[in-house]
Amino acid sequence: MTDLGSNKTPRAKPERNSEAIAGFSSKILDKRTANWAELAIQLAEIEQLNQKTLPLSSNNVIEMKEDNVVTALLYDARGIVVGFSWADVDETQKTAYVTTTMIKPKHQGKGLIGPLMEKLESGLRKCGCIFLSRDALKANGYADSIERHYGSRILEKHDFVSPYGEQRHFRILLDEDTPSNTSNKSDANRDQPSNKITPDRERAFIKGDIAAIHAGNAKIDERKMDALLGVTGYLDDINLVGSDVAIKHKGERWPYQGTDYEMIRNLLRTLKPEKGQVFYDLGSGHGRIPLYGALITEAKFVGIELVRERVEACNKAKEKLGLPNVEFRAGNVLDQDISDGDVFYLFSPFTPKTAAGTVTKLKRVASNKHIKIVCLGPIEQLFEKQEWLRSAGKVRGFGTATIFESV
Ligand SMILES: C[S@@+](CC[C@H](N)C(=O)[O-])C[C@H]1O[C@@H](n2cnc3c(N)ncnc32)[C@H](O)[C@@H]1O
Repeated sequence: MTDLGSNKTPRAKPERNSEAIAGFSSKILDKRTANWAELAIQLAEIEQLNQKTLPLSSNNVIEMKEDNVVTALLYDARGIVVGFSWADVDETQKTAYVTTTMIKPKHQGKGLIGPLMEKLESGLRKCGCIFLSRDALKANGYADSIERHYGSRILEKHDFVSPYGEQRHFRILLDEDTPSNTSNKSDANRDQPSNKITPDRERAFIKGDIAAIHAGNAKIDERKMDALLGVTGYLDDINLVGSDVAIKHKGERWPYQGTDYEMIRNLLRTLKPEKGQVFYDLGSGHGRIPLYGALITEAKFVGIELVRERVEACNKAKEKLGLPNVEFRAGNVLDQDISDGDVFYLFSPFTPKTAAGTVTKLKRVASNKHIKIVCLGPIEQLFEKQEWLRSAGKVRGFGTATIFESV
């Protein structure tokens, strides 16, 4: 992501009217009539000039040609492109992901980013987009500026570490009722009922988006999926090193890495957990599997996680999604009652001692009922040795997980 924004101190209130800044104008790129060769030269120059602050991004012009990309261009008085912002529109046409925003350094700090984004947003609304997703650097104040600009339209935000430095992710409502838009409405239109997105409607949209992603075969964008589910952790173990959490859980393996969504999709398609079944994620981290699973199936999902802060974040996501069939428990897997489980998932989280204790616990559960155990990573080797289990297939994502079942 190269959403650079302005490097100068952000203004308290970004401009709202696109044509208000003399000498500059913005337009949605018309792919049918674009002079791609000329555009490539102009965009490369903007990138080169910004190179001091970030690595060159991929070839923007190639991306801009894609059917699902909407681009806004900022022109100076001579008709030269001096800035651009483009967004990917997802397959359900409801969410746009602002991927790259850049302005020539000499024009930064003039308040041009507001009008540029406003133009982009109007183009996205015309495509039927309802949500805008974007990341912004924190260090140059851009994230704060975005926060002030969108105000109550921000549905969700969280910080994460990126190769460009610390960033803030925002999920924003692409509402028609912003001051700049309402100013053009006739009185008659103003009396129409508001098209505000209620929490119930937002949930329905998210469920629709995830159902479409689950049913399809397109590559899943990990960050997009985290944003939809409200999964907040990304690389939070970096922040936890040396913290109270690290001290408290000394002797256990607390670092987090989420299972990739390709794997989760394939796993849920293979196992098809049903109503009445209980699916445990042992060491559930930031809850990707329980949240996705509970949203897409009627089975009950339980996540057990050592780090309380992660469980609290998962509970917020659960509440926001309104999911009755998911439960998150804070604690050590060894201390929890898991006897009602039918499926158990482990992504190599445990120390050898905890892993051995978990095998004993699962063996006890399997003495009363048929269970399945799914392992991703080296912990698989421990389960392969168990004579009370047999291999029941593989599931592929970035890596390969093994399914075992009790005999
Ligand atoms: C590699 S992450 C996997 C997260 C999640 N299962 C996934 O696949 O997306 C492992 C998680 O297990 C947790 N963990 C490690 N030991 C644990 C224990 N004894 N009890 C509960 N959770 C534990 C860690 O804190 C970490 O969040």
